[in-house]
Amino acid sequence: MSEQIDSAIAWGSSRCSEASDTPKLDAELLLAHCIDKPRSYLYSWPEQLVPAEAWQRYQILVGKRIEPTPIAYLLGQREFFSLNFKTTSIALVPRPETELLVETCLELCPNRAGVDLLELGTGTGAIAISLKVNRPDINLIATDISTDCLDLARINASDHGVAIEWIESDWFSAIDNTSLFDMILSNPPYIAATDPCLMRGDLRAEPLSALSPGENGLEALQQLIVSAPAYLKTPGYLILEHGFDQQTDVARMMRKQRFTEITCQTDLNGLPRLSIGRLTE
Ligand SMILES: C[S@@+](CC[C@H](N)C(=O)[O-])C[C@H]1O[C@@H](n2cnc3c(N)ncnc32)[C@H](O)[C@@H]1O
Repeated sequence: MSEQIDSAIAWGSSRCSEASDTPKLDAELLLAHCIDKPRSYLYSWPEQLVPAEAWQRYQILVGKRIEPTPIAYLLGQREFFSLNFKTTSIALVPRPETELLVETCLELCPNRAGVDLLELGTGTGAIAISLKVNRPDINLIATDISTDCLDLARINASDHGVAIEWIESDWFSAIDNTSLFDMILSNPPYIAATDPCLMRGDLRAEPLSALSPGENGLEALQQLIVSAPAYLKTPGYLILEHGFDQQTDVARMMRKQRFTEITCQTDLNGLPRLSIGRLTE
């Protein structure tokens, strides 16, 4: 038993609406994936029959979507900074708002060869790899506490043909502080463990260790801000993504550690999500 493309989309969209705010888009992405065609094909050929095997696979993926499993895990990839990254359930799905961190880092990055950068908590490697693709001359070390994430990041780096040093480390613990960095950046876990959003939607399927550092959500940010000065050159920058309601706490913690010129940037929704501190002494 098979279906036409348009009725397969209508079926999938109605099922996905149980778990997603974008059910039609989800259904289209999954169907295009199963028939191995671009999404535009679905609009060009709405009356084509979906091959029986693809229809079976599609039904299984729609079932997983409403569990819910994020679309990026079902497709096995996610676009970030106009690059494709392999994405599995061992790592956080790279978010569009995190592109702001990459843009800011590229803007602030000194315009000379041999700049030293450290990214902490790399996940899929999306931030580090996007930076290295756009600034091949920088020296980049990227870390994660998860060996599985580092294995995935290595595969993504190889797909994009960039060389990055990957280090398994609990924040700074395995970083040699005789080698100082021009910039340290991180999108650490920052959701409070008690925040009910962790029990809703796609977040339920992502690794908790990538989302929440502990009870108040500031634990990892605090650890990074306190430790960073010992690993930064002067002048040097610390660039941190954080929650929309954490800007004041982050700025206070940065000031306490002698960071100056502290600024905050807003994401696509106008929310304060990225703080930058400069260390000059
Ligand atoms: C919010 S995710 C960010 C992933 C990726 N950089 C991104 O922006 O898509 C946080 C990452 O920090 C890592 N992490 C959590 N605790 C850590 C720790 N103590 N030391 C190093 N990395 C840690 C997680 O494994 C996860 O990959």
